[in-house]
Amino acid sequence: MRHFDFRNGEMYAEDVPLSQIAREVGTPVYVYSSATFERHYKVFSDVFSDVDALVAYSVKANSNIAVLATLAKLGCGADVVSGGELVRALTAGVPASKIVFSGVGKTAEEMRMALKAGIRIFNVESLPELHALNAVAGEMGKSAPIAFRVNPDVSAGGHEKISTGKAENKFGIAWHKAEEAYALAASLPHISVEGVDVHIGSQIDSLDPFARTIDKIGELIGRLRQAGHTIKSFDIGGGLGIPYGDNQKIPPHPSEYGAMVKDATRGLDVELIFEPGRMVSGNSGVLLSKVIYAKETGTRNFLIIDAAMNDLIRPALYDAYHDIEAVTAPGSNFEETEYDVVGPVCETGDTFARGRALPRMQADDLLVFHTAGAYGAAQASQYNTRPLVPEVLVNGERYEVIRERPSIEDILKTEKIPDWLS
Ligand code: LLP
Repeated sequence: MRHFDFRNGEMYAEDVPLSQIAREVGTPVYVYSSATFERHYKVFSDVFSDVDALVAYSVKANSNIAVLATLAKLGCGADVVSGGELVRALTAGVPASKIVFSGVGKTAEEMRMALKAGIRIFNVESLPELHALNAVAGEMGKSAPIAFRVNPDVSAGGHEKISTGKAENKFGIAWHKAEEAYALAASLPHISVEGVDVHIGSQIDSLDPFARTIDKIGELIGRLRQAGHTIKSFDIGGGLGIPYGDNQKIPPHPSEYGAMVKDATRGLDVELIFEPGRMVSGNSGVLLSKVIYAKETGTRNFLIIDAAMNDLIRPALYDAYHDIEAVTAPGSNFEETEYDVVGPVCETGDTFARGRALPRMQADDLLVFHTAGAYGAAQASQYNTRPLVPEVLVNGERYEVIRERPSIEDILKTEKIPDWLS
């Protein structure tokens, strides 16, 4: 069941018409469906309900605290990559014991915050980071639970900018250095070795790279145990792809992914940790926007809309495809036009789609970008001094603005003209 669907010719988010949100909150705006977050989290977590597993939602995909609170209520944990994300997760009610801390560049301050909170585990990505963590934990009289993020040298991921598991990527401990790293960690007084971690990429559309990774890590876990290390957890990361549209490749369903993972890890005797981001939030949100002008140049038909690359950067950054749909159903004998859908930002890259077939549209018509709940609002900026795009969470017939649109004054408040210029 889709929670963004037409009723009497109008698109709704659950039981709220999108036109109502556009009227009351303005556009552009991200609109999320609580029921979809819940369903996607459950589809994923239910697959692992019969094994020892922690689902730690990857906060970077959509980090609004209302979204995190929705997931925390269902028992979801969090994968964070900064002190900011850690505070978000804790504020939203995710227990520290369900928080894992990933990222290649954790600072001493961030380590302190996480140790103070008592998080589950640090996914350590380098030896300098290991030494820094040992030092910080020592100062605090604590022991830091760690897994090494190991780079399995497996290629995966839809786009080179989001592929992370190859030897040439900046992530993790090199495959052939892993055992040395564990030996060093075991010798440090304020480090407690607990597990192994990987994350090989994002929007992965086949099971094969996951299967190869699990095989390799399974063998590594065996060797580490033989060397005397206690390995209690295996964090498989995130990365499972989602459908972006009928003309896009359909990635494996979470149930197929789950069956493969359970099969491949059977007998390993570890707690499994997962860090899904896109899978949970991607299809839970749309970006709602309004046509400013329909401009026909003789060569192209442009729809100039009030959302831009600063609000949804995925098409500009990764050539990503998002389904675009008019909020008013076009009726049966509508006239279809091929549009270049563009934003008002002064760059040619501010193009969401070229030659996209849509019903004929005009100024003030509303449209949505589907599958915008992951890496949409979270990657938005204020480029061109366009106020940060707001977010709305729908729950049945209710909705709430969960991130406000700042005013121009709000934006300028954070800036200053130095005394010497006044
Ligand atoms: N764990 C780690 C350590 C990660 O770096 C990521 C994503 C995830 C989990 C979650 O991956 P997911 O399940 O969402 O694929 N901005 C890009 C995606 C960047 C992914 C970065 N890391 C996009 O819009 O496609």
